[in-house]
Amino acid sequence: MKKQYIVIIGIASIILIYFLIGFIAGDYFKMDGNITSTDSTWVGPSIYIEHTTLGEERELIIYGQELIAHTSRYLGPKGSVAQITNGMNCQNCHLQAGAKAWGNNFAAVFSTYPKFRDRSGQIETIYKRVADCMERSLNGKAVDSNSREFKAIYAYIKWLGKDVQKNEQPIGSGIEKLPYLDRAADPQKGQIVYIAQCQTCHGANGEGLLTLDEVEYAYPPLWGPNSYNDGAGLYRLSNFAGYVKNNMPNLLTSHKNPTLTDEESWDIAAYVNSQSRPHKDQSKDWPKFEKKPLDFPFGPYADSFSESQHKYGPFKPIQKFYTK
Ligand code: HEC
Ligand code: HEC
Repeated sequence: MKKQYIVIIGIASIILIYFLIGFIAGDYFKMDGNITSTDSTWVGPSIYIEHTTLGEERELIIYGQELIAHTSRYLGPKGSVAQITNGMNCQNCHLQAGAKAWGNNFAAVFSTYPKFRDRSGQIETIYKRVADCMERSLNGKAVDSNSREFKAIYAYIKWLGKDVQKNEQPIGSGIEKLPYLDRAADPQKGQIVYIAQCQTCHGANGEGLLTLDEVEYAYPPLWGPNSYNDGAGLYRLSNFAGYVKNNMPNLLTSHKNPTLTDEESWDIAAYVNSQSRPHKDQSKDWPKFEKKPLDFPFGPYADSFSESQHKYGPFKPIQKFYTK
């Protein structure tokens, strides 16, 4: 009798140790893309604790998450697959590989695409939207829609949004819209906050800091030749301000615990986006001028406000003009 118990306990211990080692050494610590937040109705799932998706699909999802988190290792200037982007990672702006509440996450991508977008005046697929970020935010070229890289990104985005109903947009997806100020956003005030709150990581010239092996950034650039171009979403002050308010300084900031006030966020957005960066020809964008967002900084417009007012505000008069 006793002998049998010892054998059973022995086997049980071996199984337990086996799983403990796997847990400590393996998947658990690879979760850098998926630490989830709780101040949203949507919480990004983790592929490493989901064991029903198997085989090729699972491999694609894991590769897709890796491509979002460490894009530059594969597609940056020293990328192992192709050298077609500026060195930034998708994750720099889609935090925790697109799984962070209020961190410009991908919760609503699979549920809402294909969708009509005014920028192109077309119905856009997920491929078109990903290609847009590669050409604008990553100031580069898009991967081919048949490439393993796009298939992986698609599989990951699809899997990430699997629990979101068609057409549903969970609270905390995308970027928060902050209320407009009564004044124009002020680059000079923004510079003061930048020096105090951002410069240690992003650099005195917004140049960021590469990792030691120089294949990606530890701190991504905010302006200059290696940053997003002026056709990117973050070049609009409302997007920049909303992103930064909920997420920067990185790791110390969340929707529940913002560091900056709304005013500081708008002013920093004005400061950063008044610095030089790559230019993108956008003459084909916004086929209908009246559909341009209030803070789109390039004319022509369907109103008589200046490009400067469209860039920095005050936005309320423009808003009033369009809601009259
Ligand atoms: C410099 C910042 C930045 C980088 C880097 C970036 N994006 Fe984006 N992305 C944005 C912004 C800003 C938006 C628009 C958010 C909004 O309008 O609410 C966006 C939107 C998207 C959307 C649509 C989200 C939605 O809910 O409609 C997808 C998909 C996307 N990005 C994928 C990617 C991929 C894939 C990469 C890497 C190849 C990438 N992005 C890199 C800033 C960035
Ligand atoms: C502690 C270091 C740190 C501080 C301080 C910090 N950031 Fe960041 N920032 C980061 C890191 C790291 C990322 C990329 C996050 C990732 O890839 O997971 C990032 C990403 C960004 C991005 C999107 C990517 C890009 O390069 O455009 C913007 C915009 C940004 N930070 C703005 C700011 C602003 C504005 C401040 C000051 C209020 C600030 N950050 C303070 C570390 C920091």
